[in-house]
Amino acid sequence: MKKLIKEIKGYEVLDSRGNPTVAARVILNDSSEGFAISPSGASTGAYEAHELRDNDKSRYGGKGVSEAVTNINDKIYPALVGMDCENQTKIDETINSLDPTESKKVLGANATLAVSLAAAKAAANHFKMPLFKYLGGVNATVLPRPMMNILNGGAHAKNNIDIQEFMIVPTAQIPFSENIRKCTEIYHTLGSLLKNYDITGVGDEGGFAPNLKDDETAIELICSAIEKAGYTTDEFKIALDVASSEWYDSRDGFYYLPKRQKKLASSELIEYYANLTQKYPIISLEDPLSEDDWGSWKIMTEKMGSELQLVGDDLFVTNATRLEIGFDYRAANAVLIKPNQIGTLSETLEVIRLAQKNNYSTILSHRSGETEDTTIADIAVATNCGQIKTGAPCRTDRVAKYNRLLMIESML
Ligand code: PGA
Ligand code: ZN
Repeated sequence: MKKLIKEIKGYEVLDSRGNPTVAARVILNDSSEGFAISPSGASTGAYEAHELRDNDKSRYGGKGVSEAVTNINDKIYPALVGMDCENQTKIDETINSLDPTESKKVLGANATLAVSLAAAKAAANHFKMPLFKYLGGVNATVLPRPMMNILNGGAHAKNNIDIQEFMIVPTAQIPFSENIRKCTEIYHTLGSLLKNYDITGVGDEGGFAPNLKDDETAIELICSAIEKAGYTTDEFKIALDVASSEWYDSRDGFYYLPKRQKKLASSELIEYYANLTQKYPIISLEDPLSEDDWGSWKIMTEKMGSELQLVGDDLFVTNATRLEIGFDYRAANAVLIKPNQIGTLSETLEVIRLAQKNNYSTILSHRSGETEDTTIADIAVATNCGQIKTGAPCRTDRVAKYNRLLMIESML
């Protein structure tokens, strides 16, 4: 057999914030190769798989990942050598068997994910198939709807906006490339509207990062940009990623908005969302409540879940066990899928299947710290996940995923 794993190499490379991250190369005995890079988040959920960093202050301010790279070279490589690259489940189980912790604390999910994805890419290359086809087969035919993040706040920007992401979402069933064109036109129109504002540049995900009177002004400006670009708010809706776990204090159960210095009870926050969604064409709210506030999630889903997409990111952390808790609580109705939150491809695919089986919507997602790696684009198409979040049409780390989807569209 020519598809056995012959060699695996780990590397310390850089992400879009200039922080080290882990890359892996998997080489088969027919010389087919796969290469993948793990991303890294800023507003990470408390229940995510562990991102292993050296904490050696003399290198990269403690953010080095040389230990994770050593884990690939010294532990994962010897365990996987000689394995059939087509058996992804077995590969991922073998990786997991090397780490007795639930959260991949020993190996680091940054190490495990890079190898897991690189193995799948090596297999796809062996079969001379694009990754989306190798993973999705004949079902891989539908491009995801872009949720394009065009204005950044929260932990992703140095401005005065508390909500982390303001996205536009096209509603029409038109080709992906048409949606990208229109979304990009709106992005540029927003840029020209912001010329008269105090703007701090772009945030981590390429959206503009202005200082504004309040967060609502951001939504108003986006609505104006949609119309000024020649479209309507029927054609383009708004989605927000509140990332409110960043605001939550579990000691007293209140939300503290750090930039506006506001303190809100969960009931007040839900009221705020009810007003916002009445007033503006909002169709989706991500992490409107904290990862630890299950009771409020239940109340909010009961109240607003039939009309709004309510997305659990920090809440579910791409983890099947947490998603099952969500089903029990009837909390949220959609799940954000970030492969590095769980640390292997098989577990990522399992969570997507579980969500789809239970009628929760799925959204493939990048991280705020990204690279040229475009694997999420292929996973989105392979799984028919429906939606993708991969930032603004700005910064190559974001644009690379859109460009990969445009190439996939041309292949279908
Ligand atoms: P993160 O942000 O990568 O910083 O966690 C992305 C998100 O919250 O969706
Ligand atoms: Zn999020």
